[in-house]
Amino acid sequence: MKVMLIGGGAREHAIANALIKNNSVKLYTLMKNKNPGIYRISEKVSLKPETDIEAIKAFANEINPDMAVIGPEAPLGIGVADILWDMGIPTVGPKKLPAQIETNKEFMRNLFKKYNIKGSLEYASFSNYDGLEEFIDKLTDKGIDVVVKPVGLTGGKGVKVVGEQLADNNEAKKYAMEIFEKGIGGGKLIVEEKLVGVEFTLHGFVDGESIKFMPPVQDHPHAYEGDKGPITGGMGSYSCPDHRLPFLRDEELCEAKEIMRTTIEAIKKEVGPYQGILYGQFMLTKDGPKIIEYNARFGDPEAMNLLPILKTDFLSVCDAIVNGKLDEIDIEFENRATVCKYVVPKGYPVNPVKNEIIKVNEEAISKTGAILYYASVDEREGNLYITGSRSVALVGVGDTIEIAERIAESAIKYIDGNVFYRKDIGTLELIKGRINKMNKLRNRD
Ligand code: GLY
Repeated sequence: MKVMLIGGGAREHAIANALIKNNSVKLYTLMKNKNPGIYRISEKVSLKPETDIEAIKAFANEINPDMAVIGPEAPLGIGVADILWDMGIPTVGPKKLPAQIETNKEFMRNLFKKYNIKGSLEYASFSNYDGLEEFIDKLTDKGIDVVVKPVGLTGGKGVKVVGEQLADNNEAKKYAMEIFEKGIGGGKLIVEEKLVGVEFTLHGFVDGESIKFMPPVQDHPHAYEGDKGPITGGMGSYSCPDHRLPFLRDEELCEAKEIMRTTIEAIKKEVGPYQGILYGQFMLTKDGPKIIEYNARFGDPEAMNLLPILKTDFLSVCDAIVNGKLDEIDIEFENRATVCKYVVPKGYPVNPVKNEIIKVNEEAISKTGAILYYASVDEREGNLYITGSRSVALVGVGDTIEIAERIAESAIKYIDGNVFYRKDIGTLELIKGRINKMNKLRNRD
């Protein structure tokens, strides 16, 4: 079974490991940089950008894969799944129109409105300054802070939130002007109310009709300990052995699942079936879970929490996704806790060091029991170089969060370079803070 994988980060390293657990899989990977973890388990690689359509077609023609799996959002956004399906290659990852659930924030919010999906919020979209000031002032009068989101993809750097990157709603107006002037994310934007609560992630495998859920995970977007500093792609994440999260009630998890279920029905009616992984980024508010945004792919780092504990053969899951047969299989995850800690370049995400050597003692890491995933690194002439984004992820899996955290933590010292990480991820103190925050919000009224 030849599987073509597109993408070369830690998420794709986790996908690659999960795929090759099935002995029949021969892996062929197209990735921009040489990720040594993926490289060594691939039969062949094409070192090309994940959005190079001609290179993707040429590689697919050369290897003639039985299936393709697309890791990152950028190729999904330009219709790589459509191209591969047209070439006769069943592909895990939605086509361009359904992928708009991530790539077009206006599409997403309008879908919620049109199909009356629960968990929506106050928003408006703008392609120029007309009416923008009035809309923000209306929210200001109600005491609501805003979030400004460029409509298109911005590599995770476009969304700005009052109280985080923006001082107040007036600064939000100035940022909106910058988006129009510089054409950020297509030069169109959405202003929406800022949600207050605790974030969590819920993933589903989707085959166009059905969705099967994975355990919820909590990511940590801030760069520094105590949830301080700039927003990153995610500094690490944890999941719990009972497949719940300690601040999330069962009925709230059910509500989140219902929101995702109605979303895939709505996508199908609007633009056609969605086949791939759907990632719901939720804010658990005092009024229940609300969608902050969707991603049309596995989360990074969340994929590193989920795939190592997937008991069901991942290839069979992919097969069910592309053949519309998820209803016919049971998907099981181990009842174990996971903690993922990302090691990132100094200065990340604002001004990260690049092209410096990072040393990874694989043998020592393996003895700690942690799982190592290579991310934004490039192997050249026997050395490993930092490329400027998150470098290496370490994952502990254990019967409890404490054990999983200890395993991940014990492996960090075997990474040597101009890097840092968040020691607090997966610690009981941090998790207790989340529970307290949620309890306070619930008891406020
Ligand atoms: N965990 C953030 C993301 O995958 O976009």
